[in-house]
Amino acid sequence: MRLANRVAWITGAAQGLGEAIAHRLAREGCLGLTLTDLQHEKLQVVAQAIERESPACRVLALYGDVTDEAHVADAVRQTVQTFGKLDILVANAGVIHAAEVTEMTLAQWRWQIEVNLTGYFLCAREAAKVMKQQGSGVILQINSKSGLKGSYKNCAYAASKFGGIGLTQSLALDLAPYGIRVNAICPGNLFESPMWQETLFEQYARKWGLPEEAIRRYYEAQVPLGRGCTYDDVCHLVVFLASDEASYITGEAIRVAGGQL
Ligand SMILES: NC(=O)c1ccc[n+]([C@@H]2O[C@H](COP(=O)([O-])OP(=O)(O)OC[C@H]3O[C@@H](n4cnc5c(N)ncnc54)[C@H](O)[C@@H]3O)[C@@H](O)[C@H]2O)c1
Repeated sequence: MRLANRVAWITGAAQGLGEAIAHRLAREGCLGLTLTDLQHEKLQVVAQAIERESPACRVLALYGDVTDEAHVADAVRQTVQTFGKLDILVANAGVIHAAEVTEMTLAQWRWQIEVNLTGYFLCAREAAKVMKQQGSGVILQINSKSGLKGSYKNCAYAASKFGGIGLTQSLALDLAPYGIRVNAICPGNLFESPMWQETLFEQYARKWGLPEEAIRRYYEAQVPLGRGCTYDDVCHLVVFLASDEASYITGEAIRVAGGQL
């Protein structure tokens, strides 16, 4: 219960890491959660599961595109109307399209910059307006290890995530006088995520003519601690950074990547 009575907004919460963070924040005592995503039906199923698991937490599940200024403003407005405040933003929604640079189309590039960077900016800006009035708040971006080191055949994603770290550092400066902390979390490969389970293992296995298990072992071997990143690994840091225990930490980008650079 380290986040007792807080209100949090998590973007991209219909599946994957965002869903896991939403469950965890409810278990840590949040009184209200706003969840937004493009997949509205799936999001409602997640919201119902959280309310069953943590009956003291009320969940607002809203269709919302992080790149749409009106949707983002509306999510903040409805959060304040429903719960009276907004303590924590977890800017988690993100997309990836890996391709070698000469094969990356402008549309694919723009999509990744738009969701991963501009989407983060819009959500942080609207959340900060409320948090400034409150004189408190925490903004967390789910970034990536690819936000700190270039990524092979993945230039748009890496550029968008590097941008997110510049944005995090700058927002931390703008918002520190108002008691608002801003940090980025940079996970390693989340092998349990739909991205790996539904596409990447299968794609790489086909491309390299190897069984999926061999692909997993190849990626695990690049991690000094010898395993992939789990949702729990990331959630532990989300909870810590969102809590008062981290009250002297702002403007950071923290890797959760088992020692992988
Ligand atoms: N999966 C990994 O290995 C990994 C590693 C490091 C960082 N990350 C980061 O973690 C975050 C979550 O990744 P994931 O693996 O859970 O991905 P995911 O694709 O499973 O989930 C992302 C969610 O975001 C939603 N979304 C996409 N575009 C959106 C938009 N414009 N507006 C609102 N919602 C939108 C999707 O509908 C989806 O529900 C991302 O920021 C990603 O970059 C993932």
